[in-house]
Amino acid sequence: MKALVLAGGRGTRLRPLTHTSAKQLVPVANKPVLYYGLEAIRDAGITHAGIITGDTGAEVRRAVGDGSRFGLEVTYIPQEAPLGLAHCVLIAREFLGEDPFVMYLGDNFLVDGIAGLVESFGRHACDARILLTKVAEPRFYGVAELGQAGEILRLEEKPEHPRSDLAIVGVYTFSPSIHRAVREIRPSARGELEITDAIQWLIDNGYSVRSHLVSGYWRDTGRLRDILECNRIVLERVETRVAGTVDHLTEVSGRVVVEAGAVVENSVLRGPLVIGADTKIVSSYVGPFTSIGSGCALRNAEIEYSIVLDGSSVEGVSRIAHSLIGRNVEVSRATGVSNTHELMVGDHSRIQVST
Ligand code: TTP
Repeated sequence: MKALVLAGGRGTRLRPLTHTSAKQLVPVANKPVLYYGLEAIRDAGITHAGIITGDTGAEVRRAVGDGSRFGLEVTYIPQEAPLGLAHCVLIAREFLGEDPFVMYLGDNFLVDGIAGLVESFGRHACDARILLTKVAEPRFYGVAELGQAGEILRLEEKPEHPRSDLAIVGVYTFSPSIHRAVREIRPSARGELEITDAIQWLIDNGYSVRSHLVSGYWRDTGRLRDILECNRIVLERVETRVAGTVDHLTEVSGRVVVEAGAVVENSVLRGPLVIGADTKIVSSYVGPFTSIGSGCALRNAEIEYSIVLDGSSVEGVSRIAHSLIGRNVEVSRATGVSNTHELMVGDHSRIQVST
């Protein structure tokens, strides 16, 4: 069995981060979300992974390399444009050959991994197996309608009027029959070759398609609030490890990770949280479910339930929450006229001020 990992795409919902960076490399508890997927693939006993890349291909290659540190042999498959999930299968034809494969959306996050899915695909031969999970807002997802015996009747991509609350999770297993399906379908109204249409084609043409309800935690990290939630879930499991320096004036409660070279002075750390290497935190509060990257600086600042990427600084600002701060960003207190906000913000940014 092989794996096909999708790490291209537009990432419009995560602008401005995706103007400069791959959304699959946004860190969750200071580790790129894509790494969790590659580890899950390896843990399912798969050794060969093809990675679809788009405009951010160079960055993905730098981050993953030849895959050896994940125990994988990686083949990169550049996609000329984000023409759809089924298009990814089409261009991976040569890599996939006649092997069954698991298709993994590189921005998806499954706490319980995929070993169970891969194993059950091996045990019950079928042409496709999809994972479903109940969601509150099905119109943002591919949605499955099931019959009385649990059989799949219909799949729809981001329907305006969803027929169920069962969203399709971004991990699928396929037999080589899917290659015929992706050749037969036509682009959807949004101009993409949809994997839901390809699976629907399999159903309509008498191939066996099964579904499986996921009980564990799953998130598509395409949106800010989902990334923050994933960060919370991973931090829930973190164990205390202090390799950096925390002075005696600092009050620490809960589980905290302070990486080597990090310095914390006169602050309050309320875990679970992680602080990256060479980050300096002075006279600040870092609250639960916060991941601070490496080489950051916090001074007289308060932050919780947030992610700060490498090289950023926060000074004299309280309290930041539910936020994602990109790389090399400066957040500081305005020094001019009081009650003004002084901003220099990139395209497609989102700022919510409290006054
Ligand atoms: P999506 O999140 O559905 O699409 P997107 O990346 O274009 O994001 P947005 O809606 O915010 O603009 O894609 C799921 C995963 O598949 C994601 O990791 C990107 C990847 N992908 C490709 O590699 N090629 C493609 O043609 C598409 C559509 C997605």
